[in-house]
Amino acid sequence: MNAVTTSLVDPQGRHFEYLRLSVTEACNYRCVYCLPNGFHSAPSSSRALTVDEIGRLLAGMASLGVWKVRLTGGEPTLRADLTEIVARAASTPGIRKVALSTNGDRLQGLAAPLAAAGLSQVNVSIDHPDSFGFERITGRARLAQVRAGVDSCLEAGLRVKVNVVRLRGVNDDALDGFMRWVRDTPVTVRFIELMQTAGREAFFEAHHVSLDPVRERLLADGWRPIPRASADGPAVEYAHTDFAGGFGLIAPYGPDFCAGCNRLRVTARGGLRLCLFGRGETTLRHLLVPEVQAALVAEHIRAALRGKPAGHHLHENDAGDTAHLAALGG
Ligand code: 5AD
Ligand code: SF4
Repeated sequence: MNAVTTSLVDPQGRHFEYLRLSVTEACNYRCVYCLPNGFHSAPSSSRALTVDEIGRLLAGMASLGVWKVRLTGGEPTLRADLTEIVARAASTPGIRKVALSTNGDRLQGLAAPLAAAGLSQVNVSIDHPDSFGFERITGRARLAQVRAGVDSCLEAGLRVKVNVVRLRGVNDDALDGFMRWVRDTPVTVRFIELMQTAGREAFFEAHHVSLDPVRERLLADGWRPIPRASADGPAVEYAHTDFAGGFGLIAPYGPDFCAGCNRLRVTARGGLRLCLFGRGETTLRHLLVPEVQAALVAEHIRAALRGKPAGHHLHENDAGDTAHLAALGG
């Protein structure tokens, strides 16, 4: 798909073809960098978008040229109707790719039905290749189940990427373990540089670490960067002829991170967020009713995009008002 065919363009000339839609804020893990005390719902919080509301949102998005949707959370598999959501997304005219981001805890039973419903790709968080390290980061002794979930996805024909948030003193020695795994397993393990979130400054100071040593090690070991496609997002991926799987690096503090931004984000309650590290949101939910045409939903989205900032202000220590990424899906 050629990026210039989409009709959603912001003041910086960036084209938007890709929607990240959170389907729930809730999560059953307590990852140290995200929800260290677990998920607690705010008493005032309204319910998440229904399947019908999601269907209308996607129709509006698709009319603007958005063709890829990633379902995120929180933990999307906590929704009992996730398969239905995937089926609705996959059958929306114009939507050609439906992906899922998950902690993998429930994947074993879900992989086959999700694939049958039209899912094509799954991103699973596995922050450590060993059980002890995994439990230390996620608060759950579930590495074996998650790995079995990955296997179920591969058996169901789903493409799998594994996300690893690199943390100083916690998993910055884990590259060898992941290398042993990807030698025979066709998954791409992507290291993500820790991003600062509002109120977690001390954690960030203690654990933020550059991805440069990983890059240097990969290059020294014969890994080579592979060319990128338009909807790939900010990851630089590496391949090696001796390995079934691959690696990727996502560096939000790198020079071109924002210039390549091609994604829109909608929260579980229907708020359009223009930047992961921005402030405020545009409510779309009131438009997601049968009486409102997709064209009007599209017009609201198009108008909001005119206000998208050029980039984040993480370098000035401003992480916006995002307290944790569970709220809007990473
Ligand atoms: N920094 C980087 N990535 C994060 N994620 C969540 N919080 C952070 C953070 N502070 C990403 C991880 C996780 C996904 C749900 O969101 O990749 O796998
Ligand atoms: Fe849950 Fe994902 Fe946050 Fe971990 S990173 S606590 S799995 S939402």
